[in-house]
Amino acid sequence: MGTPFISLLEPTPLAWERALPPEEQPNAASIPRTFLDAMTVRSQVFVQEQNIPQSNEFDSDDPRCAHWVIYASVNKTITPAVTDPSTGEVVRPRQSETQSVPIGTVRLVPFPHPHHPLNGGVYVDGELVGINSAPPEEGKDGSPAATPVEAGSTTAPVTKPTFSPDRSTTFHDGVEPYVKLGRLAVIKEFRGRGIAQQLVHTAIDWIRTHPSYFDPSPAEHGFEHLGMERGGALPRWNGLICCHAQEGAVKVWEKCGFRMDEGMGRWFEEGIPHVGMFLRVEVEPEVKGI
Ligand SMILES: CC(C)(COP(=O)(O)OP(=O)(O)OC[C@H]1O[C@@H](n2cnc3c(N)ncnc32)[C@H](O)[C@@H]1OP(=O)(O)O)[C@@H](O)C(=O)NCCC(=O)NCCS
Repeated sequence: MGTPFISLLEPTPLAWERALPPEEQPNAASIPRTFLDAMTVRSQVFVQEQNIPQSNEFDSDDPRCAHWVIYASVNKTITPAVTDPSTGEVVRPRQSETQSVPIGTVRLVPFPHPHHPLNGGVYVDGELVGINSAPPEEGKDGSPAATPVEAGSTTAPVTKPTFSPDRSTTFHDGVEPYVKLGRLAVIKEFRGRGIAQQLVHTAIDWIRTHPSYFDPSPAEHGFEHLGMERGGALPRWNGLICCHAQEGAVKVWEKCGFRMDEGMGRWFEEGIPHVGMFLRVEVEPEVKGI
């Protein structure tokens, strides 16, 4: 594998057919390559490997997120070697070419967010569909079966989060704006080589050095939507980063500096147990203008 490189896609409108995999998207020509590649990785990891319904993979957060995709240069066989069957001699050598293939992705969701998940909550396609308060049985993760939503819908579920106070948890006072890292995925054969850490550190470095990128402006959003009095102090991001970690991936996030938020509890997304984790970073002062 050659030296990997990372591509960033800033928030952009996306005409995505939720029921279809990336390779069957009818609007592919108008969808940025980086996003198609992110979805190729996510489909392979979350849909094929973890059995999450294809139609639940894209959501209404995707167009407002920043996405990173990491690529590896991989040598691929274009035509196999041809040998003479009688002598076994190679009459035409193998032809190969080096291609860049997407091998990992992560996204950064700006604030505001829906309220923190409920402890024991069972979520399907971002919607609360039940509560599973039973503690996990020994040897089991206590996860309820994921109920796939009706396939075929073309639009993401309508969740328009607004600024409203949340419950407080161990690391979040319920009010401070935070950004959220998610959809972290690395293709199976490239795992265990620090790819996930590289992606997470790249995303964190970017937001640290662009701290006001997602800060809202009342001119754009309106004071009512911001949930505040006209002329009040505007929400500003001050270094707090959250992730909703699959329990099996907690150690990976810990390696990136995140700490488990006990107060957030444990819940299920698409049947997979999740916990909340937070990291606080120092924001870099932005240089404005010249
Ligand atoms: C989780 C995932 C993204 C990790 O990708 P990766 O590229 O293999 O991770 P890294 O190599 O960067 O590992 C980072 C650290 O976590 C450790 N780690 C990685 N996977 C781990 C696992 N499953 N359990 C425990 N530790 C793990 C690594 O050993 C490494 O620590 P080190 O620096 O001491 O060696 C990848 O396994 C994956 O895509 N899993 C399926 C999807 C998923 O669960 N996504 C997370 C959603 S929250």
